[in-house]
Amino acid sequence: MPVTEEQRQQVVESAIREISHIATLPEVTLRIIELVEDPTSTAQDLHAVISNDPALSSRILKVVNSSFYGLPGQISSINRAIVMLGLNAVKNIAIAASLAKLFRGGELTPTFSAKELWNHSNATAIGCKLLSDTMGMGLGDESYLAGLIHDIGIMVEMQYDRSKLIDALDKTGAGPDGIPTTSLLVTEEQVFGANHQHFGQGLCAKWKFPAPFAAATGFHHNPTAAPSEQSKLVAVVHAADCLAGRIERGFRLDNPDCNIHREVREVLKLNDEKINELTEKLQSMVADSANMI
Ligand SMILES: [Fe+2]
Ligand SMILES: [Fe+2]
Repeated sequence: MPVTEEQRQQVVESAIREISHIATLPEVTLRIIELVEDPTSTAQDLHAVISNDPALSSRILKVVNSSFYGLPGQISSINRAIVMLGLNAVKNIAIAASLAKLFRGGELTPTFSAKELWNHSNATAIGCKLLSDTMGMGLGDESYLAGLIHDIGIMVEMQYDRSKLIDALDKTGAGPDGIPTTSLLVTEEQVFGANHQHFGQGLCAKWKFPAPFAAATGFHHNPTAAPSEQSKLVAVVHAADCLAGRIERGFRLDNPDCNIHREVREVLKLNDEKINELTEKLQSMVADSANMI
């Protein structure tokens, strides 16, 4: 039964209302986001926020020291990391490291667990940075974070109504190779009356995430409908999501074909050869970054 826009809005609103009791954005993440939004914030401000959370500090340093950043020698302090990578990069790593906590909930079906979604989110984030750097787009850090949260709407569904999400996952008819016969986007609409893009966008609004992240969450499967100011970032997230689905054991329940939209291929100058090359590169970067956060 098709739902109206108004009904969909109601579903999303009630889901976000329900989960706000259980899923609050960690206080430390909120404070880091405030710093990201504030162009006058300094390294001292960031240091002051992070130093209250030793577990977060050590996760950040683990990321900074991973082969992903390829820094010479061991970085043992947040201040040093800021000097080496820049304030913006460290802010984004800090948000990423604090978000990992939200992806909890164990295995729901044989083809889906929160941990797998987190791994996919990481792969997409790395793919975003890879694409942006390859194309010289200068969106590296921003797109990394956008990639990390693009499927957060699935976590909203999980916390809102676990059994409905299991139903939607089962309806995809995913085989042992992980390739479903029906996209999760379709089955979510059948079960919830909205898909994870709607839920994710609702959550980003509730958490007052910067607009680019809300756009990446809300339009990653439909990049040509994204607001024009965010279209480049959304194109990168869409393409990275497809690349991340193509790698070994890549998550593709919501994207069975992993085909990059024609217009996005044009914007990012991606032909089949380039896509294969980037998929291979991503595969090895993801392997290197295993358990990074
Ligand atoms: Fe998705
Ligand atoms: Fe995805």
